[in-house]
Formats: sequence, C-alpha cells, structure tokens
Amino acid sequence: MIITVTLNAAIDKTLAVPNFRLGRRHRAVEQTAMAGGKGVNVARALRALGQPVIATGVAGGPTGTRIVEHLTEEGILNDFVRIREESRTSTAVVDPTSGDQTEINEHGPHVAEAELDLFVDKLLYLAKGAAVCVFAGSLPRGVDAGLYGRLIEEMRRLGVTTVLDSEGEPLLVATRKGPDVVTPNELEAEGLVGREFTDEDDRRRGLEEMVEMGAREGAMTLADGCMAVLGDGADRRLYRATLEPLEPVSSVGSGDAFLAGFVAARYGGRDNEDCLRFAVACGAESTQHFGAGQLEQREVERLLPEVRLESLATPAVSAKGVL
Ligand SMILES: Nc1ncnc2c1ncn2[C@@H]1O[C@H](COP(=O)(O)OP(=O)(O)OP(=O)(O)O)[C@@H](O)[C@H]1O
Ligand SMILES: [Mg+2]
Repeated sequence: MIITVTLNAAIDKTLAVPNFRLGRRHRAVEQTAMAGGKGVNVARALRALGQPVIATGVAGGPTGTRIVEHLTEEGILNDFVRIREESRTSTAVVDPTSGDQTEINEHGPHVAEAELDLFVDKLLYLAKGAAVCVFAGSLPRGVDAGLYGRLIEEMRRLGVTTVLDSEGEPLLVATRKGPDVVTPNELEAEGLVGREFTDEDDRRRGLEEMVEMGAREGAMTLADGCMAVLGDGADRRLYRATLEPLEPVSSVGSGDAFLAGFVAARYGGRDNEDCLRFAVACGAESTQHFGAGQLEQREVERLLPEVRLESLATPAVSAKGVL
C-alpha cells in the first residue's frame, strides 16, 4: 500500500469564463469541482496507474466533507482526520479565448495541536500496512515546519520508504532528516540550495547539493523532463531525461503525476532508468487532461518510447541520509 499525506487538502474549483476581465460581471460557461491538494492529486494519479493507494490528511467543515465525498466517489481510498476549521477552496478561472489562467487560493484552515496529534496517530497506524509514504504540498497554518521531518524519521523506524515533495522551510528541514526521495521542481530546488541555477552544469551541482543535504535520492523536474540522482553505492548515477513538450490542456499537477509515475514504477520493481522514463511520461500525459492528477495509463505507455534518457555520470556525493 502507498500512503499519500495531504495536510492542505482543498476543493479545486475551475471556472471557464470567456473574455474574462477584471471588474466585470461574468457567467461561467463551464465549471468543475474536484478534491485537490498535492497528496490528493498524487493519489488520483496512482489510482489511475492501478496502484494500491490510500489518501490521508486533515479535512474540516462542509468543504472537508465534500473533499472526502469526492474522493470516495472517485474510488480513491481515503482516511482523513476531521478538523474544526473549514478546508479551503482554490478557484481557477480559465479563459478559453486567451488560454489565460487566474488562480485564487484561500488560506488553509488552522490546525490545532490535538487535531494534529490525531493525524499523526492515524498515519502511524496506516503505516503498519504500507511500503511507501508520500508527503506532498505545504503545511497548514499553526503546524511546525519540522513536521514532515519528524514523520520521515518515524516512517524510517517503521521501514516505510518516504517520498517528499514540498517547498520552503518544510522541504529544507525535512530534507535534512533523510527522506528516501525528494522531487522538487526547479524553483523549489533553487530555494532548497539557496541559489538560482544558471545552466545545466549548475543544475547538476544543485541536485548533488540537494542530495548531500540528506536525501537518499533526488529527482528535480524540469520543463522538458527531469534530472535525477538515483541508486546506492556503486550503482549511484546521475540521469537526465528529456521529452519534447506537448501542447498542454492544463499543466497544473504535472509534477504530482510525475511523482506518482516514479512511485508506481519503483513499487512495481522497475529499474532506475525505467522509473524516470515512466515518471516523465506520466507528467507529460497529465498535461493532456483538465484535472490535476488525471492521466491515462495507455497514453503514458504510448509516450514512453519518446522519452530520451542519458546516464551522465556517477556523482561524487554520498548520501548522508541513513538507510
Ligand atoms: N507541456 C508539457 N509537455 C510535456 N511534459 C510536461 C509539460 N509540462 C510539464 N511537463 C512535465 O511534467 C513534469 C513536472 O513538471 P513541473 O516541473 O512543471 O512540475 P511542478 O512545477 O511540480 O508541477 P505541479 O506543482 O503543478 O504539479 C516534468 O517532468 C515536465 O517535463
Ligand atoms: Mg510540484
């Protein structure tokens, strides 16, 4: 079983509004609402890839109830802790005439300490039957930036593999605690190592620094694929995967689909090169769908031969993360 953790779950509402103008009154020609938040998107993609997955996290108020109902309707196993404050709704206005997308994200709910304790208990319980735990997205207000790091240590004690996809302080603190895999996008990776990357060589050094900070393995998503350091000991290698960008329907959540693809391939026992090919194809295929985390496995397979993969070198880094 794979667990995905979403502490900032949301209802993602998308409105299609032609000729959207500020300060005007509009009528949406189309509207959709689905459960969202990074971990939820990863769970949706894993489900589409036929993997056994359970989504957990916290959800509150009538919006929290809708999140849980949407997940259940989609057939995504879920077990969320109910909290007092209302979960957020994220609204995106898509203008089909210009292709522009405007996003308005509400503040997430404040999570009380007792509620967080209930969540940690639930996670530790679920972890008994899990092989992998994915921590994805930001932390809600009131939650200590060290939470992911603490949970990563707990998972290690239980023998559960951890995958981390976050940003800012929670990513930094948790990376130092030795997650098995970190999967930031380029901007998040720059934030993690504290500088902007200027070229391919610089990205490669950045990735190595990221791993030196404590992650056992790392994959940084790029606009045209990814760069990764995977493997242990003598098998440790640096990879670069590329794919010609597709004309997107919506690229929101492509990183979540990438992560799901990587985890699905790893969980299925594929080798590192195949895992990266599959992850990149999943990220790309998901851009052909409107909702975050949606993809079609058949189309992913069709894209696979188009992913180019180079094994660059054995990086001169040793993971400080135990395992
Ligand atoms: N238009 C596209 N065509 C093909 N692949 C794409 C396209 N857009 C993104 N991808 C792929 O999707 C993966 C994830 O991309 P990106 O770095 O944008 O993730 P992200 O910023 O974490 O996205 P999100 O946070 O919205 O999930 C990458 O491997 C990238 O190559
Ligand atoms: Mg991302």
